[in-house]
Parts: sequence; C-alpha cells; structure tokens
Amino acid sequence: MFGKKDFLGMIGLQLAIGFKKKNGNYLRSLCAEKMAGATKEDDFEYNSDKQILFKVGKVIGKRWQIDKKLDEGGFGQVYQVIDLQNRSRPAALKVESVMMEGGSAIKLEINVLEQCNKRKQLTHLPILFSAKKHEKYVYMVMELLGKNLRDFKTAYTKDLLPEKDWSRIGLQILHAVKSMHDRGFVHRDLKPANIVFGHQSNMAKFRTIHVLDFGLARGYAFYKKGHWTARKARLRIDFRGTFRYASPNMHRDEDLGRRDDIYSIMYILLEFNVSLPWQFEKDKDKVQNLKWFYEDNPKKLSTMLPAELGEVLPHLRQLTFYSRPNYSILYDGLLAVMKRHRVTLNDRYVHEPEDLYKEWVKAGSKRCQCEDMSAFMKADPIRINGPPTSSTTTIQDPGPTKEDPMLEGKSVNTNPSGRTKSQFDRGSSVSTHTSGMANSKGTQKK
Ligand SMILES: Nc1ncnc2c1ncn2[C@@H]1O[C@H](COP(=O)(O)OP(=O)(O)O)[C@@H](O)[C@H]1O
Ligand SMILES: [Mg+2]
Repeated sequence: MFGKKDFLGMIGLQLAIGFKKKNGNYLRSLCAEKMAGATKEDDFEYNSDKQILFKVGKVIGKRWQIDKKLDEGGFGQVYQVIDLQNRSRPAALKVESVMMEGGSAIKLEINVLEQCNKRKQLTHLPILFSAKKHEKYVYMVMELLGKNLRDFKTAYTKDLLPEKDWSRIGLQILHAVKSMHDRGFVHRDLKPANIVFGHQSNMAKFRTIHVLDFGLARGYAFYKKGHWTARKARLRIDFRGTFRYASPNMHRDEDLGRRDDIYSIMYILLEFNVSLPWQFEKDKDKVQNLKWFYEDNPKKLSTMLPAELGEVLPHLRQLTFYSRPNYSILYDGLLAVMKRHRVTLNDRYVHEPEDLYKEWVKAGSKRCQCEDMSAFMKADPIRINGPPTSSTTTIQDPGPTKEDPMLEGKSVNTNPSGRTKSQFDRGSSVSTHTSGMANSKGTQKK
C-alpha cells in the first residue's frame, strides 16, 4: 500500500493545491520529486509528473487491454488498447489521475464529446466508446486514430506542406470546427498536435482529418428547455491554449469565442505554408506584439497566404466574442486554392505513403463529397450573432444541419458512469492549472 515516500508526496500535493498560484510551481516540483518512480498500486505507477502509467498487457475495466503507448500530453497518457470484446477494433485510451481533480480535463472532454455527438456522430470528431472513473484515475476510450499533423509534418516534410495539401487539410479542419460550433462549443486549443488523420485499421476513415483534445473546450452557448442562449462573455480570463496558435484576443485576456478558433486555424495554415512570423520567437511579449501588429495590419499577414484567402484575416478583425464568423469566406478561399491546383479530397497527399493510398483506393471506400459543403458552411443552427438579450438569443435547436454532406455515421455508445456534469475550465496550458499547478511540461504545451 502506501509507503513513507508516497505519503510525503501526497502531503506535498495537498500543500500545492492549497497554496495555488502563489507557490504552485515550486511545491509541484517538490511533490513530483517525492513521488518520482513511486509505485502506488499493484497495477499502475505514477511517473514524475504524477501521471498514471500502465504496463503493456494490463486490462482496464475488464475490457481494454494495454497494447502500447501512443503519446503523452501535458496531463495524461494515451495508449493503444485491444478491445477484448471486439479484437478487430483497436481503440485508444486516454487516462488522467484523479489528483487533477478540480481541473480534470478528461471529465470535461467526455462531456464535450458526448454533447457534440449526441444526436449524430460528427464525422471529424473521435467516436467515444467508453468513459469511466476508477478510484485513482479517469479514463476514456475512443476510436483509434492516426498520426497527428505535427508529427505528420515532421515525418514527411521536415518543413512546410504544399498548398494543395494544406488547403485540403484546412477544409476538413474548418468542417470539424464549424460542426463543434454548431453544437455550442468552442475548442480553444486548435494546433497541429490536436489534429489527426484516421487510422489505417479503418480504411473508410483513415484519410479523414479529426480534431481531438477537448480538455480546454467550452460552451459559448447553452441549450436549455428547447432553446439556445448565448453565454455571457467574462470580462477577463486566464490564458487558455497554446502560445503559438492562440488568437490575438487571448493575449488581451479576452474570453474566447468562435472567431478565436478560426484565428487558430489561420495560424495553423500559415505555419504549414510559410511558417509563422513568431515561429521561433521564445519571448512571449514579442509573440504577442507580433500578433497584435498583424491583427491591426491583417493584409500584411494575408500576403503570406495565397490570394484566395486574403479576406479571412480582415474579416476576423471585425468580429466580437459573440459574432458568428463567416465560415464561407474561409471555405470558399480554401476551395479556390484546391481548384487552382486541380485537387480534390480524394487525391493523394504529396507526402502520403503511396501503398496506403493505393490500399484505400482498392478498398473502394465511399468517396468524399465534402467539396460541396457550401450549404453547410452557410447554415446557422445556433443563430447567435450578438450579446444575449431576452428577445434575440433564444431559438429552437434544429439539431444537426441537414445541409452537411459529411453528417453520417453511427450513434455513440458511451458509458459515462462516474463523471461529473459540471463544466469547469481546465487550467491553462500556459498559465496555471485550476488546481493551481502549472502544466507539468513547463509553462506551455508544445
Ligand atoms: N484517439 C486517438 N488515436 C490516436 N492517437 C491519439 C488519440 N487521442 C490522442 N492521440 C495522440 O495523443 C496525443 C495527446 O492526446 P491529447 O488528447 O491531445 O492529450 P493532451 O490533452 O494531453 O494534449 C495527440 O497529440 C495524439 O497524437
Ligand atoms: Mg493535445
């Protein structure tokens, strides 16, 4: 059971929570030191960041057998698992210690995924299979997806992506993000590491882009008793997201809305195209000043993108927290770039392994019709475009828009036992965790 070393670690942790921001970083590292390598239970360990570590072969929830580690984020580990009830369907399990209580990202993430996929599984969001709370950890099991765009870029290009590829990837990211917005949520941490292709074990989806990691997502509107209502903007918020991709509004501590997700998409595309003006800048003030400069001079930043996208950044500049972005401007621009390059979503990406692409063609997977998303981009099921007033912000929720050519797929089979419904914010990747502890990776997620 508990040894002296563990006990000291626990005390340190409690103190760290108690002292919150004041002494959080120091106590956290002290606590981590005490707990380094400590085996807390028979079947798992904590690492020095007090993340839960499972051994290969361990079975979680009598069903999910750890196959291998896929990745680790700032707050938890992600494993590939074998579904003992359906061995032909590999899955991914994300786990987080309950010691993150009060700031659990996974609980929030589960809630967001369930809400977004409630009526119909959204094409570009992972399918959630199961979510449970154990005495010492919370975990969620979802469909296994492929490489994230950060790794994809490094593995295949070492540098930039060609226009004809990032325009097609961007189109799918936009679709994913708009479909979340249409369900009342903003993502708030869009970046290449949180965007993945599908997995080759599922040919039908392996060329589909998925957005994941909803640990910082938040409802900007809520649906109650048959109505959508805008959530009031807070006067200021702590930093949320990742420095490189956060919108200029975040650097003014403003509450984050739909416009800010679109800013992040634009920064991702810029990074793919020519790299960002603040790409290698480590000084946070300089990054922020560069973002503000280009916010005031959006046309200057637009010159680093193809002319077809020239209207997007000036448009974003006009929006407030409550505004509905004009998704069609970005969509039309991306489509125009694709057309200029004569590519569709069904053509091979330049850096896509040829054998896999051929396999996909051979499998005869349903061809994607998503170049025809214009009606979906125009559809406005939430109809919130200004601050809440009793007369203008309550409307009936029509559910997923019929105009969406990508809306297909199975309903979700979730098992949300043990999760709370409260919508707390996870602490920022950059500033402090809700529990007062800084992100274990330092001050910022990569
Ligand atoms: N369902 C999944 N399938 C495959 N890889 C995944 C899956 N979920 C997450 N990953 C990988 O794990 C990494 C970390 O997961 P993420 O959900 O972003 O956690 P964090 O909140 O710690 O950043 C991602 O960048 C991605 O590469
Ligand atoms: Mg992540």
